[in-house]
Amino acid sequence: MVHLKTNLAGLTFEPPLILASGIMGQTAGSLEKMIEMGMGGVVTKSVGSDSREGHPNPSIVDVETGILNAMGLPNPGIDEFCKELGKFIPNKPIIGSVYASNTDHFVGLSKKMEDHGVSAVELNLSCPHAEGYGASVGSDVGLVRDIVENVVKNVDVPVFPKLPPMSDMVTISQVVEDAGAHGIVAINTVKSMAINYETGRPVLGNLYGGYSGPGIKPIGLRCVFDVYKSVDIPVIGCGGVTTGRDALEYFMAGSSALQLGSSIYYRGLDAAEKISSEMIELLDQEGYGSLDEIIGLAHQ
Ligand SMILES: Cc1cc2nc3c(=O)[nH]c(=O)nc-3n(C[C@H](O)[C@H](O)[C@H](O)COP(=O)(O)O)c2cc1C
Repeated sequence: MVHLKTNLAGLTFEPPLILASGIMGQTAGSLEKMIEMGMGGVVTKSVGSDSREGHPNPSIVDVETGILNAMGLPNPGIDEFCKELGKFIPNKPIIGSVYASNTDHFVGLSKKMEDHGVSAVELNLSCPHAEGYGASVGSDVGLVRDIVENVVKNVDVPVFPKLPPMSDMVTISQVVEDAGAHGIVAINTVKSMAINYETGRPVLGNLYGGYSGPGIKPIGLRCVFDVYKSVDIPVIGCGGVTTGRDALEYFMAGSSALQLGSSIYYRGLDAAEKISSEMIELLDQEGYGSLDEIIGLAHQ
């Protein structure tokens, strides 16, 4: 039977399925629960310097092939969140996600996360629905280089920039690798909107949201494929992984580990357990002896 385990930037993920940022990541209790339910690691909700309420409702809408959310990065601010982190009893890696609009804030937030025991830092350079943050920062290549370089210089834990889906993933990946990143997370949600034909109005309070779930899998696969061929650091795939088959496809595109977000909605709190069993069954069925045999297979 294939053993599902990955070593990445000095961290062990067993199984290599990690809770994505923003889903069940607000409290120590919910993060621990997700590990109990089969995740090999967890990412916190993205946290900024100050508390933030987020966007007005409706902020989530179910569309046929996925979910649109325009939460707008609601969070209690780093100091309150660190109190929560202090309650977390780690037995698997915990990755602290941070967002900011400038380098100094990214550095300060990352240092606080490190001081409160995270195993790695994830830089949110990719949220598509928070003006001035996320993808607005991630689309400025010079700023991205400066942020990554300075965070890497100032913390001792691994640093994982989380990139938005872009038509050119090669340039940005090479920039973050040159800047010293230890791995790349791809992708965040895809900027999108929903319109109600009865009212003739956009559905989300913020007009625009981020699309996640099964419908974005082909976009995520393409991005991971392009990142894998452009850099030597590991890629953590994310976007629409809902079944063991999706997971295998992402590993074949070049992922060394995966993040699961919307699958909690589609498969339940034990999504990681279900996806792990399905992966093992499929790997056995196809005659693979280890996960390593399929990482990047689609590039041969
Ligand atoms: C409700 C919701 C909230 C999210 N919040 C964050 C966040 O705070 N930071 C972040 O980097 N990504 C956030 N994301 C994006 C997810 O981490 C993930 O990148 C995206 O949903 C694609 O993966 P999925 O298809 O498995 O959900 C959020 C997604 C959803 C659905």
